[in-house]
Amino acid sequence: MPDLSQLRDTLDAIGQSHILASFDGLRPDQQRSLLEQLRGLDLCALPGLIAAYVTSPPCVAMPDDIQPAPYYPNDPASAFRSWDRDHFRAAGEALLRAGKVACFTVAGGQGTRLGYEGPKGCYPAGAVTGRPLFQFFAEAIAKTGKKYGKMPPWYIMTSPLNHESTVAYFEAHEYFGLSRDGVSFFPQGVMPSFDIATGRVLMASCERIATNPDGHGGSLKALSVSGALADMKARGVEHISYFQVDNPIVRVADPVFLGLHAAAPDSSGEMSSKMLAKAYAEEKLGMFCLGDGKLQIIEYSDLPMERQRERLEDGRLRFLAGSPAIHILSVAFVEKVNADPKYALPYHRAEKKVPCIDPATGEAIEPESPNGVKLERFVFDAIVLAERSIVYEADRVEEFAPIKNAEGTDSPQTSREIQTLRAARWLGSVGVEVPWLEGTDAEGNGCKRPDCTIELSPLTGVEAADLCGACAGLEIARGSRCVI
Ligand code: UTP
Repeated sequence: MPDLSQLRDTLDAIGQSHILASFDGLRPDQQRSLLEQLRGLDLCALPGLIAAYVTSPPCVAMPDDIQPAPYYPNDPASAFRSWDRDHFRAAGEALLRAGKVACFTVAGGQGTRLGYEGPKGCYPAGAVTGRPLFQFFAEAIAKTGKKYGKMPPWYIMTSPLNHESTVAYFEAHEYFGLSRDGVSFFPQGVMPSFDIATGRVLMASCERIATNPDGHGGSLKALSVSGALADMKARGVEHISYFQVDNPIVRVADPVFLGLHAAAPDSSGEMSSKMLAKAYAEEKLGMFCLGDGKLQIIEYSDLPMERQRERLEDGRLRFLAGSPAIHILSVAFVEKVNADPKYALPYHRAEKKVPCIDPATGEAIEPESPNGVKLERFVFDAIVLAERSIVYEADRVEEFAPIKNAEGTDSPQTSREIQTLRAARWLGSVGVEVPWLEGTDAEGNGCKRPDCTIELSPLTGVEAADLCGACAGLEIARGSRCVI
């Protein structure tokens, strides 16, 4: 046990003595667990963090000169930038065949907007069967392994809040057919949650500090601390295909993207990103920009709206490139960022309702308005640390059907619609007739949508071409629900 009186002095000196206010009345196991939590905190750094981020919102330093970022358009014959898709696809496929690619899912978030009990990856996302999100990824990884003759190892970052239930879920589902040896889980770090008014660390109970996962940017440190990075190196992995837990149709290891990342002349092969053309100026996606000549993502809340509404002569948005949070990082880059404190990612501040106790009375507080500040790191802040970083345009229907909210945009309903639309497109491309319905969209423009619901297993295909020969003779009736 550390010297208790010394610890009390330190906490006194940094204005956090309330953490041990009830210590003497706790059971020995509770005392041990509280001391353990305190040991995990960098107490000396707390006053600086609190002054910089908690008691007053930090000023976001915007680069002086912000320009739209260049990107590789989805259409390689595009008038504004043509490129050789086949060449880069071959380069990416070579990496997959050589076993140099790992898949990495960040699944440590709390998923509060969706409001689902349990890890978000267990959410029933499939349009017909309710296939869980984790199963989509497992099957896509299995299919990729089959196509390239080498199974990419899969790393899943959990948080201390959902680690055990995530692992138990995989056990109960027998790893969705993957070999256990190829799937690794590790929890990310946490940060204390702070009282919004005073900067004091909030207490969840007399013996527990209130904490929150330290953001998806915490994954860089967690990859190293957990030993995942060392495991990757031992397996010969050089590149990490990073994706979020909420998008069932994500390409878990896209050969073209991998090839651009590793072999494009304007990429240092350290960290690359996919982009989506923003659907409208106000869409809440971070934007790829050049700030003082460096590629970076600027949050939608930070770039003035009049700039986000700027248009080019042809009518397209000038700041078009939104981020779906799909990246590739090299193992060497993650090591570089972790090795030097000068590369430490900044924190972002979010005001949240944090259930806690009043440390003076021990009384529980269920706040009705935000009472706490959570600090998180964002993975995209690492982009500026790469020497040269590229952006590759993804097609929305092909690879973006996120489940963020219970209803409305980016909800289970919109995800199911996009899953069906993509499957219908792919089936159409291999000659299967899909029933369509003519209608109008929200703006009154003519549009058509499939008059059926389709759930496509990634085991059948991770891209349209995989369906060749797999769906011969398939018939889809109007209004039907089918699983392929
Ligand atoms: P989101 O920004 O959607 O956050 O995370 P969230 O916590 O899942 O959901 P809300 O905001 O509470 O509704 C984007 C991705 O980053 C992961 C999430 O699991 C998701 O895949 N993430 C987020 C982490 O792994 N750790 C974190 O600390 C935060």
